[in-house]
Amino acid sequence: MNPANSNQSGVGLVVRGLRKKFGGQDVLKGVSFEVKPGEIFVIMGPSGSGKSVLLKHLIGLEDADEGEILINGEKIGSPEIAAKYRMALVFQSGALLNSLTVGENVGLYLTEHKLKSPEEIEKIVLEKLEDVGLKDAVNKMPSELSGGMKKRAAIARALVIEPQLILYDEPTSELDPLSAVVIGDEILELNRRTHVTSLVVSHDRDLAFGVADRIAVIVDGVIVTIGTPDEVKKFNDPVVKKFLHADFKREK
Ligand SMILES: Nc1ncnc2c1ncn2[C@@H]1O[C@H](COP(=O)(O)OP(=O)(O)OP(=O)(O)O)[C@@H](O)[C@H]1O
Ligand SMILES: [Mg+2]
Repeated sequence: MNPANSNQSGVGLVVRGLRKKFGGQDVLKGVSFEVKPGEIFVIMGPSGSGKSVLLKHLIGLEDADEGEILINGEKIGSPEIAAKYRMALVFQSGALLNSLTVGENVGLYLTEHKLKSPEEIEKIVLEKLEDVGLKDAVNKMPSELSGGMKKRAAIARALVIEPQLILYDEPTSELDPLSAVVIGDEILELNRRTHVTSLVVSHDRDLAFGVADRIAVIVDGVIVTIGTPDEVKKFNDPVVKKFLHADFKREK
């Protein structure tokens, strides 16, 4: 078996010169970066900077006006490549179906595509829920979960395909600081255990500096710097500094 396709190895990702316009608005203005296999790469930037739009291009929900995306050196876009690599997105909203239990949500992809027997699916669902500390919630409805639990259930759902690339869209948004730390730990732990390549987009500075091997800062559709957390902290650019040190203007 090609090692790049084994469950224990993440894929490399290259994004080159990605441009996207909506109407007259330039949303991505030539975005380029590279994520190494097994790396945790965080794209950090303010609201509206183009993070979710970028992720949608990676999973094929949007087509770029210009530029290309390569996985392990192969250009994405064809059904063959889509079938070859396992990629999962943890949506910004969690996106659990309210009419299904947590367990049914997690197993939905396998059930719908009849990929395993019901017994096997049950086993996998429990295993993935256990991975995120939610085994006891298997029969609960999404409405009975806290915000943090919903995010963890969404991660468990992404894990059923044994992804080689996992994309997280704002995994800590709407969470209290403690629940946000739990999610950050989860991202780190999964990465250590499975070596899944992890791309996180977020405006959460604590999360970015807490989990990232490298960080790219995106502002207004342009990546202004890429580096290790230390390098990004030291990056001497007024826009980046403003974003990293934004604080309330309280009179002293
Ligand atoms: N389908 C679309 N049609 C038109 N404009 C869009 C579309 N999707 C996104 N946009 C615009 O693109 C810009 C970037 O949106 P995006 O959702 O990528 O922001 P973001 O960086 O993810 O922000 P947040 O941190 O708030 O999630 C916004 O101005 C948004 O209005
Ligand atoms: Mg977004």
